[in-house]
Amino acid sequence: MARGILCLGLVLLGALQAPAQDSLISPIPVPHLISIPLQRDFQEDQFQGKWYVVGIAGNSINATRRARFKMYTTTYELNDDHSYNVTSTMIRNDTCDHWIRTFVPNDQPGQFTLGDIESHVGVQNYTVRVMMTNYNQFAMMFFKKVHDNYEFFKISLYGRTKELSADMKDYFARFAKSLGLTDDHIIFPVPIDECIDDK
Ligand SMILES: *[C@@H]1O[C@H](CO)[C@@H](O)[C@H](O)[C@H]1NC(C)=O
Ligand SMILES: *[C@@H]1O[C@H](CO)[C@@H](O)[C@H](O)[C@H]1NC(C)=O
Ligand SMILES: *[C@@H]1O[C@H](CO)[C@@H](O)[C@H](O)[C@H]1NC(C)=O
Ligand SMILES: *[C@@H]1O[C@H](CO)[C@@H](O)[C@H](O)[C@H]1NC(C)=O
Repeated sequence: MARGILCLGLVLLGALQAPAQDSLISPIPVPHLISIPLQRDFQEDQFQGKWYVVGIAGNSINATRRARFKMYTTTYELNDDHSYNVTSTMIRNDTCDHWIRTFVPNDQPGQFTLGDIESHVGVQNYTVRVMMTNYNQFAMMFFKKVHDNYEFFKISLYGRTKELSADMKDYFARFAKSLGLTDDHIIFPVPIDECIDDK
């Protein structure tokens, strides 16, 4: 009997310690960086230039809502101090938007954090990791962000061209699922020509 009560107590304690937002959404936990690959011998110069975002998956991504999500690009320009100016270009409301930020090397080659993080309201922590790339065809990226005490993570599949092989996309989806994501969290944006092909 006493033992039964103890067990119940532990269960309740566990329930109380669960985050309050569990009743609304149950976020998929951010994987530890230790379990995320890092491109060996990262070549910062070769990674520069324009990448098409061919796939995105993340714990705050709703594939149903974003079913017709349009492809965008992210361009990396290396500065002398080894940071990148990172520009994402996307069409929104028929206008071509550019979003510029800086990625600053952090910890080890191929890993970055946001430059001037104070100017990004609500962002408490931000980590980017180049998981793997061959520089001239594809890259797989990991992003982790703490925003207003919520933890988000995202992986992106970059291509130097708008199309990548089915094998590569499958690999990306399988990797996303190994991090606890489901098909509902994975988007392959629709290729477009407008805006993202402009110089
Ligand atoms: C995703 O979006 C759809 C359509 O807006 C909505 O019905 C669904 O509940 C959302 N799923 C999640 C997990 O938020
Ligand atoms: C990066 O952005 C800064 C600020 O706009 C600019 O001064 C610098 O020239 C840019 N670097 C490159 C490599 O384009
Ligand atoms: C898109 O345009 C509509 C109508 O002009 C406007 O109400 C809406 O706020 C705009 N959305 C964005 C994200 O700019
Ligand atoms: C941000 O994340 C990095 C890497 O995970 C960690 O070393 C650092 O302590 C974190 N900073 C804050 C303010 O949480």
